[in-house]
Formats: sequence, structure tokens, C-alpha cells
Amino acid sequence: MAVIFDPLRGRQRPAASHPDEEIIDVLAGRYCDADWAVLTGAGMSTDSGVPDYRGPDSPPRNPMTIQTFLSHPDQRARYWARSWVGWPRMRGSRPNPGHLALAELSVAGIVTQNVDGLHQAAAEAVAASRAERGDERPLSPVIDLHGSLDRVICLDNGHQLDRDWLQRRLSELNPDFVHATGIDPIDVETAPDGDVELEDTAGFVVADCPECGGMLKPDVVYFGESVPPERLQKANGICESAAGIVVLGSSLAVLSGLRFVRTAAKEGKPVVIVTDGPTRGDELADFRSISRVADFVSAWASR
Ligand SMILES: NC(=O)c1ccc[n+]([C@@H]2O[C@H](COP(=O)([O-])OP(=O)(O)OC[C@H]3O[C@@H](n4cnc5c(N)ncnc54)[C@H](O)[C@@H]3O)[C@@H](O)[C@H]2O)c1
Ligand SMILES: [Zn+2]
Repeated sequence: MAVIFDPLRGRQRPAASHPDEEIIDVLAGRYCDADWAVLTGAGMSTDSGVPDYRGPDSPPRNPMTIQTFLSHPDQRARYWARSWVGWPRMRGSRPNPGHLALAELSVAGIVTQNVDGLHQAAAEAVAASRAERGDERPLSPVIDLHGSLDRVICLDNGHQLDRDWLQRRLSELNPDFVHATGIDPIDVETAPDGDVELEDTAGFVVADCPECGGMLKPDVVYFGESVPPERLQKANGICESAAGIVVLGSSLAVLSGLRFVRTAAKEGKPVVIVTDGPTRGDELADFRSISRVADFVSAWASR
């Protein structure tokens, strides 16, 4: 099993740099006449019941790396068994007031490290309520930097599949699994990547690509993989056009997120971090809030 270095070790959460109202004054003040880029992390979705990796109360996690996933059929059986049990809950999670308030705001774009699809669900809800009022303001673009759990890809030929299809297929292939392990999917604790804590996964039958028999993987960027270049380019474009960057609920432990903050700081653009734990970007922040994301964004949106 790969050892994952803890980039936050030894870090303490800093104090807030300013009261939230002052930070929101800056955000609402049309800085340089451009909108802000927003980078979100797991802390955005904890209020929707999707746990984070590195919150103060999070148990130590050992997320699957791409090397482990590819290393052995048993590892893939382990991943898919846990994912199969955890998916109904993950799929049923709903955007919280933070997602909804953010979708109401006009920002340069939302670059999310989350794989839960909740920004898109919030955008749909806001679009529907705007349509009822004849409000035609466009919604901010969303980039899923690390992919999305609702899609599955075939590693052999790139075929894309719907996660719900795979769920049905795994159920067909494993009719007795839940019964044999004595696990009730409703009671299990969901882990951050949508799978569950489940030790005994021997005997779980994994599905292959229905088009070519290739190996299937969730369409998410695992630890040890890099963000596809096209997606990265779009996210960079959003950040380049923006007045500055606002980080919501991320420890910035993952380099692909931290890079946007480093680039903004290097270009002299303001960096705002709203996260209730320590982050790897704290020394780069011009404005630091330790409030709950939903409270902060709701206050920003109602300005
Ligand atoms: N929802 C998801 O899709 C999900 C969940 C967990 C992990 N992941 C994946 O793992 C990586 C995790 O890195 P990360 O930086 O996003 O998450 P992280 O778990 O490393 O950090 C989350 C941070 O947000 C804080 N936080 C939690 N709830 C908060 C709230 N309501 N208000 C304010 N702060 C809050 C925590 O204290 C912590 O500091 C990502 O790359 C992502 O792909 C995704
Ligand atoms: Zn295929």
C-alpha cells in the first residue's frame, strides 16, 4: 500500500485576518473590474453529508491511489465493492445552502476539486428558479478538476459510461454480496470518495466495459494521476481572467488545487481563503476567514 505524505503535518489553523464583513466588502467591490475565481474543496460539501478528508474530526483516510487500483484484481474488487455499497447515499446527497448561494453569485468560474456533482445540482436548481421569474442571467461555469463520480471510463478504449448503469450491473453480478457480508447499505458510513468503510470485499465481482471488455475506473483523478490537460487549461483560463482567487473549504493539501493559489499570489492577485482547518496556502492568503463555508457564501451572496 502506498504511503501518502501528509502535507499538513505540523500546521495550525491561523486566526481570521479580518472580520467576514470586511472580506466580503472586498469581494463585492468589483476588484479590478473583474469577477473572482472560486476554488472549492471537500469542506464545501460536508454540510451535504459528504465527509471531507482532513477536517478536524475526520478519521485518518487511506484513499486509493491509481497505482494500487491498477496493481491487482483484489484491489479493484475492494474499490468497487465499497463504491457499490456507498453509491446510493452519495447519489442522494443534495446541494447545501453554500452551494446554492455560490450558484447565485456571478463569479469568473467555479473550479472544484470535489467529485460529487453538487455545484452542478445547485446550478440546475438556481437556473430553474430563475427561469420561473424570467431571469436570464447566465450561470457561472463549473470545472470538475478531479472529474465526477457519476461517470465511469474504460481504461482500454476511453468509453464513457453512466455510474447508474454500472450500479445496476454490479448488483446483477453480486446478488448475494450484501446478504453474505451482513451489511445494510443504509447503515454504513460513507467515506469521502463515495465508497464505504468495508473490510471484507473478497469475492466481489467487478464489471468490465460492455463495449470492449476493458478495465473500468471511476472518471475521477486518483491520487497519483494528473488532471487532463484540456480541463486544466479551462481552469487556468478562469483564474487568469479573474480579479483574484477565493478558496472555499479546502486544505489545499493536493497540489493541483494549491497551484492556482500559488499562481495568483505570484501574479500579485489577492488570495482569499475560507476554511475552518489549516491549509497549505495560509501564508499566501491576503484575507483569511475560518467561518463555515455556507455562512460565509450566504453572506457574500446577500450583499
Ligand atoms: N465532496 C467530494 O467530492 C470530496 C470529498 C472528500 C475528498 N475529495 C477529494 O479529495 C481531495 C481533498 O482535498 P480538499 O482540500 O478538497 O479537502 P480536505 O478534506 O483536505 O480539506 C477540507 C477542509 O475544509 C474544512 N471544512 C470542512 N467543512 C467545512 C465547512 N463546512 N466550512 C468551512 N470549512 C470546512 C476542513 O476543516 C478542511 O480544512 C480533493 O482533491 C477531492 O478530489 C472529494
Ligand atoms: Zn471499453
